[in-house]
Amino acid sequence: MAPVQVKKICCIGAGYVGGPTCAVIALKCPQIEVTIVDLNQARIDAWNDKDFNLPIYEPGLEDVVRAARGRNLFFSTEVDKAIQDADLIFVSVNTPTKKGGVGAGFAADLNYIELATRQIAKVSNSSKIVVEKSTVPCRTAESMRTILEANSKPGCRFDILSNPEFLAEGTAIDDLFAPDRVLIGSLQTQEGKDACESLRSVYANWVPTERILTVGLWSSELSKLAANAMLAQRISSINALSAICEATGANIDEVAHAVGYDSRMGNKFLKASVGFGGSCFQKDILNLVYLSETLHLPEVAAYWKQVVTMNEHQKRRFSKRVVDTLFNTITGKRIAVLGFAFKADTGDTRESAAITLIRDFVAERAIVNVYDPKVVEEQIWLDLEESIPQPLAATKKQVVIHKSALEACKNAEAVIIATEWKEFLQIDWTEVYKHMNKPAFVFDGRLIVDVPKLTEIGFKVTSIGRGDKA
Ligand code: UDX
Ligand code: ADP
Repeated sequence: MAPVQVKKICCIGAGYVGGPTCAVIALKCPQIEVTIVDLNQARIDAWNDKDFNLPIYEPGLEDVVRAARGRNLFFSTEVDKAIQDADLIFVSVNTPTKKGGVGAGFAADLNYIELATRQIAKVSNSSKIVVEKSTVPCRTAESMRTILEANSKPGCRFDILSNPEFLAEGTAIDDLFAPDRVLIGSLQTQEGKDACESLRSVYANWVPTERILTVGLWSSELSKLAANAMLAQRISSINALSAICEATGANIDEVAHAVGYDSRMGNKFLKASVGFGGSCFQKDILNLVYLSETLHLPEVAAYWKQVVTMNEHQKRRFSKRVVDTLFNTITGKRIAVLGFAFKADTGDTRESAAITLIRDFVAERAIVNVYDPKVVEEQIWLDLEESIPQPLAATKKQVVIHKSALEACKNAEAVIIATEWKEFLQIDWTEVYKHMNKPAFVFDGRLIVDVPKLTEIGFKVTSIGRGDKA
């Protein structure tokens, strides 16, 4: 049997991973019909919006959708039909950390994956290549295979592939256009290799052959967790060093610069910050911790756990520094938090450090002014409701969402930079200073402000990884 030539693709899950990834596949492979499905009607409606107000903000995404939508890219809630029509199905559903039961707080909740897999088995009338796209714990492909094989109809074969997505939010389209690598894991049987070849030839439409890596299923699944764990570990390492810098007067940017010049290390992912966020890093490390524990490797589990512990410590350390600097109390004081997204160029707020900071400030009974250029107000309230242990009505008395950075800073005692949005580089600090209470403090959680310039204006500036007098 020769590898199947893929003509129709279905992507289950129209979120941050499935949406951009399959939109780019449609753009780059006009001969393939791509249908992205989701149970969430509002999300699909937004993907189909006539004015292209798409459900996620990602630079360059709109152009991709404009070029392909209606041509060979479709968004739909007709999940069963799209499954039936497809030769290849990407499973890109959410895999949040479990909130209850065995492995709560660590293991991934595979309920969505399982439901989608069962649906594929139930409605398929022909053979399919099923591709695990969502980041999942090791051996999920094995579970999917068991479910599919136990429920398949006569004459239907299911080949499972792992094809983790390495895109980073904010640069998703560039990452998809020119990925460092595409990783495909398959069983090492002839059928597995054929399925792998089918998917490889989809990517080969635009990705150079040498960047498409093919490995075993397990290696593929573990590589995704490993890559995220090691990236996050670099950030926790630099953040741990930032605490030493603050205590000694060294400057973390200078240290990172010097370290990053070592060609064995490279200079990326060495930016000290108020803490990493995003839907992947913490979740994937906790997955790795859980996996290590279940494999009876407690030292390995403890090693990876420390990366998350350090990140939590970094957030706490930052909010404590704010309170300490503001004369040990922020009760009743107005604090402006600039940025709510977990990084610049995305509207995504999952695990954003800003949420932890605001929670801490609210607990200290401060008044918090929030501004973010992309995150919608409704999302901010959802996140604060979930993270602050008091009724939302009480939180709304302490938190005010503003429409501009300047407005958020008015009458504030302190400005906190929580996200490195480009527009914060252009803030007119002289103007901001005029409208703030004095002494006016700036706490730079992203190392973006010009400290000497702000100091000259009159601000008292505190930056991550710099001693108070630096
Ligand atoms: C990450 C991985 O980079 C990507 O390969 C994977 O597919 C998904 O997880 P993402 O979470 O979208 O991507 O963004 P990333 O750029 O990795 O940033 C994650 C967090 O780390 C952000 O909060 C960011 O601000 C922070 N960060 C990043 C730092 O604090 N310092 C750095 O040097 C880099
Ligand atoms: P990610 O960041 O991994 O893409 P998201 O939460 O942004 O995660 O997107 C996952 C999407 O998958 C959600 O829009 C959710 O509605 C959708 N989804 C989950 N389960 C199913 C399912 N069984 N069928 C169709 N869509 C699903």
